[in-house]
Amino acid sequence: MAAIRVAILGAGRPGVRHAEGFKAAGGFEIAAVADLIPQRRKTIMEAFGVKKEVADALDVMSDAGIDAVSICLPNHLHLPVAVAALRAKKHVICETPPTLSASEARKLLTAAAKYGRTVLFAAQRRFGGAEQAAKQAVDKGYIGDAYHARAAWMRTRGIPVGSGEGGVGWYFDPSKSGGGVVLDLGVQMLDLAHDLLGRPRPVSVFATMSDHFHPAGRLPAAAVSVNTAADDHPADDSAAVSSEGTGDGSDADATTPSGAAAGPSGVEDTFFALMKFEGGKTLELSSSWAINQPPTQNGTICRVHGTEGAVDVYTRQGPVLHRKFSQRGDSRETPLKTPKVTHYHAMMRHFRECIQGKAQPLVGPDAGALLMAMVDAIYKSAETGKSVDVR
Ligand SMILES: NC(=O)c1ccc[n+]([C@@H]2O[C@H](COP(=O)([O-])OP(=O)(O)OC[C@H]3O[C@@H](n4cnc5c(N)ncnc54)[C@H](O)[C@@H]3O)[C@@H](O)[C@H]2O)c1
Repeated sequence: MAAIRVAILGAGRPGVRHAEGFKAAGGFEIAAVADLIPQRRKTIMEAFGVKKEVADALDVMSDAGIDAVSICLPNHLHLPVAVAALRAKKHVICETPPTLSASEARKLLTAAAKYGRTVLFAAQRRFGGAEQAAKQAVDKGYIGDAYHARAAWMRTRGIPVGSGEGGVGWYFDPSKSGGGVVLDLGVQMLDLAHDLLGRPRPVSVFATMSDHFHPAGRLPAAAVSVNTAADDHPADDSAAVSSEGTGDGSDADATTPSGAAAGPSGVEDTFFALMKFEGGKTLELSSSWAINQPPTQNGTICRVHGTEGAVDVYTRQGPVLHRKFSQRGDSRETPLKTPKVTHYHAMMRHFRECIQGKAQPLVGPDAGALLMAMVDAIYKSAETGKSVDVR
């Protein structure tokens, strides 16, 4: 079977990780790269032997030889570029968040149905080894009925900036980012925990948020012209396995304090949410780009509680299953075996299988629309101070 010819759109760190994933998965040829920054295009061309380059992502759409696109662009470009690609009969893998809002996500859902091409959101935490092992344990019924989860990604310091003119990155511009940490880290933990709970229908959300550490605020100003902190792409299991005390599963520079010299802000750096789902299931969800906390608390937590046991996804020992609780609260701990194929390798293999009709997208346009409906409710609750129904 001929290789799937893919174009990388946006050559920042996610673009490089996608390219690595395509190479590891096999069955792809990276045929083109698009980025406004020539040096970023050059880096990918040299590393992956890519021959074609364009500045604007939309310029690859007229190339009939390109079968698929990998959208690693600022958030406000996800919808227009994905729709342009679908119209041009190309398959799409798109970075998270899916779009800026639920209404945008529904437009993408409609376009995906109309043009009949694969759309997969790059929800990286579905494909990590620890996360896949936890999912298998839950699906096999090892914890009984999963009824509550606690998921958090709390960085002590690690505010992303993003590319932009004059040192003002797009992450701080709500018209381009759609918001702050909810859309960056929160959406990834929400997708993971909701899936581990069995994807129950969301009912309501109560949330609060704050922005004590935005760049115009308390972090020291630094001359930043392109992204220095937004990379959250664990390359292997050892990097991904993190917990309170073991890092946050991202590359080291993800927690580098950074700040634009000046610029708009108004996006949240921290949020806390309590979510209710059908059947009485619940989720405590939080994320922060910057919070004063004991250094050992920096990182990710995802614990799923069931009627027969619990799974702790991120521990220093890897994912752990707890069962056979005694009256005193002791339990039998079973470390879970992680699969061999993980992260971007696993994600791109899955993307290839979806394109070939051998699999359905794990996080497709319908899942993207549901995620964004929950995200919209988080923002609305924080704004109104009230519990909000998810629609
Ligand atoms: N899944 C994750 O863990 C994760 C982590 C970081 C970022 N992301 C997502 O990846 C996306 C990109 O984030 P980033 O941090 O790499 O941002 P970035 O600003 O560092 O990189 C975006 C790149 O897109 C290029 N670009 C902008 N407009 C373009 C256009 N019209 N045509 C071609 N190129 C264009 C920019 O020049 C830049 O190089 C965002 O949606 C972000 O949320 C996901």
